[in-house]
Amino acid sequence: MAHRLAGLLENLVEATATPYPVDRYLEFVSPMLTWRETRAKVVRHERRTDRTVTLTLAPTRQWKGHVAGQYVEVSTVVDGVRHRRFFSPANAEQDARTIELTVTAHDDGFISKHLRENVRAGDVLGLGTAAGAFTLPAQRPEHTVLVSGGSGITPVISMLRTLVAEGHHKPVTLVHYARSADDVPYLAELEATARAIGNVDVRLHFTRTADGERFDGGRFAPEHLDGLADADGAQVFLCGPSSLMTQVREHMDARGLGDRLHSEAFTVDTAPVIDPNQPITGTLTYTESDTASENDGRTILEQAEATGLNPEYGCRMGICFSCTKVRKSGCTRNILTGELDSEADQPIQICVSAPVGDVDIEL
Ligand SMILES: Cc1cc2nc3c(=O)[nH]c(=O)nc-3n(C[C@H](O)[C@H](O)[C@H](O)COP(=O)(O)OP(=O)(O)OC[C@H]3O[C@@H](n4cnc5c(N)ncnc54)[C@H](O)[C@@H]3O)c2cc1C
Ligand code: FES
Repeated sequence: MAHRLAGLLENLVEATATPYPVDRYLEFVSPMLTWRETRAKVVRHERRTDRTVTLTLAPTRQWKGHVAGQYVEVSTVVDGVRHRRFFSPANAEQDARTIELTVTAHDDGFISKHLRENVRAGDVLGLGTAAGAFTLPAQRPEHTVLVSGGSGITPVISMLRTLVAEGHHKPVTLVHYARSADDVPYLAELEATARAIGNVDVRLHFTRTADGERFDGGRFAPEHLDGLADADGAQVFLCGPSSLMTQVREHMDARGLGDRLHSEAFTVDTAPVIDPNQPITGTLTYTESDTASENDGRTILEQAEATGLNPEYGCRMGICFSCTKVRKSGCTRNILTGELDSEADQPIQICVSAPVGDVDIEL
């Protein structure tokens, strides 16, 4: 009842505050004063490694917390344009008043570099609601095996911290792959946790030598999971670069352990499908931009960018819908499901849609 009344009151205030939502007025007073929107103030900005930034955020009252392993949409305005990206909170789920993000700055990454180089304590970011099914089961596993590579450490360290905070006493092993010790933003904490808590084991593998050369001995090898993935009641939680994820998945499938694997990817493989029976043909026409390109089999988002267009996007993997555009005509293949669809005037997510033949897209 109280909830319904609050909802009615919110709608009434919104109606009297037209033409703009209440939050547009409130942000003139303070960007942290919001009626509906969730925002967060950066309270700490730490560059723990050469390529990362760890941001500690204090969210507004609307933030409901996250479950370890979930992700959240973070938005920021750069040169007047709002950009959305997704990050996995690294803090324990018990702490709902703080959000810790560790962002790896990509060489060609627009927002990850911006968050590392330009954002400062005191800045305010937009926030979505925590989401995602990459989480620990309510009945904790007999043996929790966390496997991560590079920036993929964030959801699994949230799981580790959550288990430690709840006093979980069954074995937890974290296997992490990084270029070097200097490249692990949580190195000191991981080592201290493994020393202090008897059931926590941390195994680090480094893929570069001290001179920065590639070191194959530090890359994933099936024996790294011996006695872990196959332990009684083990469940494996995996997040990292696609090469690591593929190798772990293939290894576990080959050992008949595929049903123990839970994984989260930060990117999807968008490489065109090469099928000799169905050559890549057709023209991709951008109806709003008066331009066109020969279909090269990649996603419509990638082909549009290659043509010089800048469509909005967020996740680039089909979860946020910010890239949705209307397919006026033609057939597209969903690269996640393989499904073909050729109904005219349909909104589609162009980050996960590849043209099959001629396509007209409202872009
Ligand atoms: C569920 C989820 C959780 C995540 N959690 C984390 C996390 O905890 N920590 C973390 O560091 N990252 C995380 N990520 C990744 C993060 O959301 C961003 O994708 C990453 O930071 C790169 O964003 P960016 O803006 O720097 O790169 P972008 O500028 O968006 O570039 C990303 C790639 O897009 C392509 N691209 C972009 N623009 C163009 C263009 N104009 N022309 C051609 N190609 C282009 C390039 O291939 C480029 O490498 C997560 C992603 C997801 C989906
Ligand atoms: S960018 Fe998120 S669904 Fe396409």
